[in-house]
Amino acid sequence: MKRIGVLTSGGDAPGMNAAIRAVVRTGVAKGWEVYGIREGYKGLIEGKMIPLGVRDVGGIIQRGGTVLGSARCEEFKTEGGRLKAIRSLNENSIEGLVVIGGNGSQTGTFKLHEMGFPVVGVASTIDNDLVGTDITIGVDTALNIALEAIDRLKVTGSSHQRGFLIEVMGRKCGYLALMAAIAGGAETVVIPEVESDPEEIAQILIHAYEKGKSHAIVVVAEGATYNATRLAEYFKQHEDRIGFALRVTILGHVQRGGAPGASDRILASRLGAGATDALEAGKYGVLVGWVNGKVHTTPLEEVVGKTKEIDMELFELARKLD
Ligand code: F6P
Repeated sequence: MKRIGVLTSGGDAPGMNAAIRAVVRTGVAKGWEVYGIREGYKGLIEGKMIPLGVRDVGGIIQRGGTVLGSARCEEFKTEGGRLKAIRSLNENSIEGLVVIGGNGSQTGTFKLHEMGFPVVGVASTIDNDLVGTDITIGVDTALNIALEAIDRLKVTGSSHQRGFLIEVMGRKCGYLALMAAIAGGAETVVIPEVESDPEEIAQILIHAYEKGKSHAIVVVAEGATYNATRLAEYFKQHEDRIGFALRVTILGHVQRGGAPGASDRILASRLGAGATDALEAGKYGVLVGWVNGKVHTTPLEEVVGKTKEIDMELFELARKLD
């Protein structure tokens, strides 16, 4: 292999730059040229790529987002789009590709693998919903951002005897919400994996009020049937019973925009290096993730189309600690 490409795809995640840096520096150390592909699969189709040397990725490890840019690309979901992408790789003499991204992006990686192109994926998403890795690049930083918001909302909540319904990202996965609830000392948590009854949540709030708490926090995953907006609608009809005045805060993309913390920088560096090792070893069509404290590769066919399961013991714990 003489030349490889690297791209970031889907929602950006803090730590993606550290992963790009690791791919470039370990790739160059193996004697390869490394090309950065701009704006994910969209840029790949359009042939937007630039050579990256070791100095070009200096000073990016501490930066959030992705210096290569990212995109969600509808055209790449079509076979015609993917053929254009492969043509673009061939025209630029790129013999291997590293795709840094989450669930949707790795479905694309698998498609390229099925079409015979040497490709590996790196597990990166704030959702931590990927099978084949214990943890994904970005989730630790996103979690800390959510925690900072929760801590602040507790302060203002206490001043006003308010309850906050705090919605966090995560698509159909409740990991971020669950961890934020435990670490943030929330009264309860609502996640997509567990059918929730709004009346049960109302009872938890009433109980907290009766215990004399000055505020109450409910962390809600955006993918739950009763997301924060729907819960608030339900509670509106029961405000007089609940005690706390309720407010909704949707954290949204704020969670994605932070500078990566130490854990994400280190994880991303290890997985980025693991990706070039996998390409060198001819291990194509795999997700490079982190399993049991080690870099681990899992065939993408075992990864795509699935959502990682939640540890139900942690859900029980979150509900016990109110
Ligand atoms: O997959 C990462 C994520 O941030 C999800 O948590 C969220 O649902 C989605 O991306 C938002 O997507 P977009 O940035 O396209 O609005």
